[in-house]
Amino acid sequence: MTVSPSIAVIGAGYVGLIQAVGLAKQGHSVVCIDVSAERINQLQAGVPPIYEEGLEELLGEVIAAGRISFSLEVNSAAECDAFFVAVGTPTEEKTGNANLGYLYTAVDDISQIARKGAVLVVKSTVPIGTCERLQIRLDERVPEKNLSVVSNPEFLREGRAIQDFFQPERVVLGGADVAALNKVREIYSVFDKDKVPFLISDWFSSETIKYAANAFLAMKVTFINEIANLTQTVGGDIEIVSKGIGLDSRIGEQFLNVGPGYGGSCFPKDTLALATMARRHGVQQQILEAVIAVNDNRRYMILRRVEDILDQKLRGRRVAVLGIAFKANTDDVRDSSAVSIIHTLLDEGAVVRAYDPMAKYETSDSNYQQSSSVEEAMDGADLTLIVTEWDEFKNYDYNSQLASVGQAKILDLRLSLKSRQDELSDWDLNFIGINSLNNN
Ligand code: NAD
Ligand code: UGA
Repeated sequence: MTVSPSIAVIGAGYVGLIQAVGLAKQGHSVVCIDVSAERINQLQAGVPPIYEEGLEELLGEVIAAGRISFSLEVNSAAECDAFFVAVGTPTEEKTGNANLGYLYTAVDDISQIARKGAVLVVKSTVPIGTCERLQIRLDERVPEKNLSVVSNPEFLREGRAIQDFFQPERVVLGGADVAALNKVREIYSVFDKDKVPFLISDWFSSETIKYAANAFLAMKVTFINEIANLTQTVGGDIEIVSKGIGLDSRIGEQFLNVGPGYGGSCFPKDTLALATMARRHGVQQQILEAVIAVNDNRRYMILRRVEDILDQKLRGRRVAVLGIAFKANTDDVRDSSAVSIIHTLLDEGAVVRAYDPMAKYETSDSNYQQSSSVEEAMDGADLTLIVTEWDEFKNYDYNSQLASVGQAKILDLRLSLKSRQDELSDWDLNFIGINSLNNN
């Protein structure tokens, strides 16, 4: 039997679903609401609509315990004290701003059914000032309800979302109503107070923390990618350089892995939204704008390397692209660098066969096909490009493919095969950020 829910989560995507299942696991009774009938049907059947390690088991566990339900109807949350809003805030194509349409719809729907004193917790990533505007809107539209808005940005990473939910490095809350802040603090009381720092501030600081954290991490990735251009051209090994920098605890080792450029549903959209917002307020973020431009151009840098390896002839050549997801352990292809590299290659007339263990990508270009295995993608390939750092590609028996490839050439954009160079000595193995002369 399902207990009547006290917490509603609005949006059953990467953030909302993890939040809903995580809170249910911690003992809360939760209703998770989405506008997608397909999603809700799947979830009611215990099938997660997204891939996240451990999610299916956890979902089954909380459904069996009767602590979670799924609904298309916001009305089913009428008795809840808290509404965690985790709808998308995608880029508005024309302006670069975050599109707040889904958020406003969700908040307006909640305001119609919420009971007096309920708290609306904004987990979606929103431009600075949004929570204050939502509070004003609620106070104007339903003043008798005394609804309160609390900002509670999400920091989870796809691929390790469950771990990030249960072991957050911090919980950030922002608001103007102390009672509402305390209510949300109480919902999270399971987190060991000594281990998880709680940062409680105003809406503006809380919203800024979210964007600034993503911008800083995107900057770190972009920085190492630019240094990689240098080592690749002048000499050196970017992996050792990253380690050498990162061992300085003031810099830190994380987010210094060279790659095809940052992608995903958040870094590209959030860096753009922050830069756009800052410009609108007359406080241009020059570092951030440079980060965005450098990252956007990275695919061309990679294209030049591909052309070098294929003697400048790309038209009609077969390229196997290993990895479509924006990083390993997710099926998410939103703003994936792999997808932009695929299109850059197609634009130059290459024939692309792409394979990913989880992600799917389709395009109408007849020179593109998604393969169902590494073997199929590499069959007849003139070059194999490793774009996503899946373990399957790190461990794959490439030597078994030697007879079936067109040419034994690999360009590894994630340094996945670096420790296997001796074993792969029959291959022309090229690494991003490492001058090919250093390989020999
Ligand atoms: P998502 O697209 O995976 O999920 C959003 C869900 O909201 C969808 O299922 C959609 O159908 C639903 N929805 C839209 N309007 C609705 C409404 N009115 N009522 C109910 N449901 C509605 O998005 P996501 O990746 O979970 O991201 C959500 C927010 O969290 C974004 O602001 C994002 O920037 C932020 N965020 C995402 C991540 C991440 O790793 N994906 C991490 C931190 C923060
Ligand atoms: C990122 C943040 O890490 C989360 O804290 C945040 O909550 C989330 O965005 C969000 O706001 O949605 P995520 O997008 O899941 O999480 O992925 P990351 O692991 O941060 O990777 C982002 C991109 O940077 C990927 O394309 C990844 O391949 C790339 N990256 C990351 C590198 O190229 N090198 C690195 O060292 C690290």
